Amino acid sequence: MSKTRVYKLAQKLGISSKELIEQMETLGINVNNHMSTLEDDEAKLVFELLGSADEKDNSINREEEENCMPKIMISEKISVQDLSKLINKTSAEVITKLIQIGVMATINQEIDFDVAELIALEFGYEVEKEVSNDDNEDSLLEVEVDDPNDLQPRPPIVTVMGHVDHGKTSLLDAIRQTNVTAKEAGGITQHIGASEVHINGKKIVFLDTPGHEAFTSMRARGAQVTDISIIVVAADDGIMPQTIEAINHSKAANVPIIVAINKIDKPNINVDRVKQELADQGLLVEDWGGDVISVPVSALKGQNIDTLLEMVLLVAEMEELKANPNRKAVGTVIEAQLDKGRGPVATVLVQNGTLKVGDSIVAGIGHGKVRAMINHLGKRIKEATPSTPVEILGLSDVPQSGDQFVVVENDKLARSIADKRKEKLREEQMKATQKVSLDELFKQM
Ligand code: GTP
Ligand code: MG
Repeated sequence: MSKTRVYKLAQKLGISSKELIEQMETLGINVNNHMSTLEDDEAKLVFELLGSADEKDNSINREEEENCMPKIMISEKISVQDLSKLINKTSAEVITKLIQIGVMATINQEIDFDVAELIALEFGYEVEKEVSNDDNEDSLLEVEVDDPNDLQPRPPIVTVMGHVDHGKTSLLDAIRQTNVTAKEAGGITQHIGASEVHINGKKIVFLDTPGHEAFTSMRARGAQVTDISIIVVAADDGIMPQTIEAINHSKAANVPIIVAINKIDKPNINVDRVKQELADQGLLVEDWGGDVISVPVSALKGQNIDTLLEMVLLVAEMEELKANPNRKAVGTVIEAQLDKGRGPVATVLVQNGTLKVGDSIVAGIGHGKVRAMINHLGKRIKEATPSTPVEILGLSDVPQSGDQFVVVENDKLARSIADKRKEKLREEQMKATQKVSLDELFKQM
């Protein structure tokens, strides 16, 4: 019998995994975390009960509503001051929390939705993202819906996250060494912020952009690029603040977690202690009766890396990741910069469709015809299928990390969409400067 993951069901119901777990508890179904599995009939029952219960709740269960976490709406960005007001805290309290999670901000500074959400959650508020309606430039974009029959399996996109010095880079290096293709290329793997690994004839894509930043900036812009996150925990150090942050990011993004317990070559380490600390964070590992896959590894000695990769493929298989290669490409900008000789250069991840040289595209405020595409080995390619990271040349402007890119009918359309976005951006910047000067003015009064 097949099984359903909690977070998948939560996605279907349009609620967070946390909400779902709480609601299931009231139904007498207890699970460990968002990675836990439900038998199909159990999942169906929950779906039926909660799916319809939603509407009833609004009218009947006022009492229950009052016991829930209060909900606030936040848009893409919010100032520290505005957030404090929404959650009935002083700006100082909010700033202290921000410092605790490593974000330095002043009262008037705007913070991203993602960060604001974490803070609000800490203070017991549930957050919903406010979607602005003035994205009218995007009304020019037709949303192409795929026929399920056109979908084909695609490789998983994996992000490696974890606390400073726990071995993320070493792990990626070890992974690349296990990979024959990378070896053949003579270690020239750092052309773009992503790498591809082939294991048993199957491809896995790793995003090398530092995990947390990638997650934060992408999520803040509504982009989700990761399918699976590997959280690296050094066995000699255990769970640290950034490990917890990584766990929270993955949970919030509803992404399955695989824990790599690293540095097992070191003397006097205690893997069980790490497992205990993981359990304290709500991640119960498989050998302790939970659902979270953990693999003890040594990135330095290349120990158990193949097992880790097999686990990635296993989790990927359960995810049933699919895309339609026979359509115009869409995807996300991973990083971009202005290159002196080549102009704006963007590393993008093709998430659906096939991107081809010569395609007209819009990426954030940039537009143009794809002049050239370069893959992770530094080779020029003509086509990039779903789950392929590529560097593209030919854009008019530099887009931002997390921006969506879309292939459109022709250059004219691409230009008009990009122009509208630029105009909007200019307006926003103007508003921001006006706000700053007004704030300054008040300060002086
Ligand atoms: P930041 O990018 O700074 O967050 O660090 P990181 O997580 O990428 O860690 P990195 O791979 O740079 O490793 C940090 C240190 O730990 C280096 O000195 C590595 O040699 C060491 N290290 C990484 N993996 C292992 C391991 O499996 N065993 C041992 N003994 N040392 C390791
Ligand atoms: Mg590193």
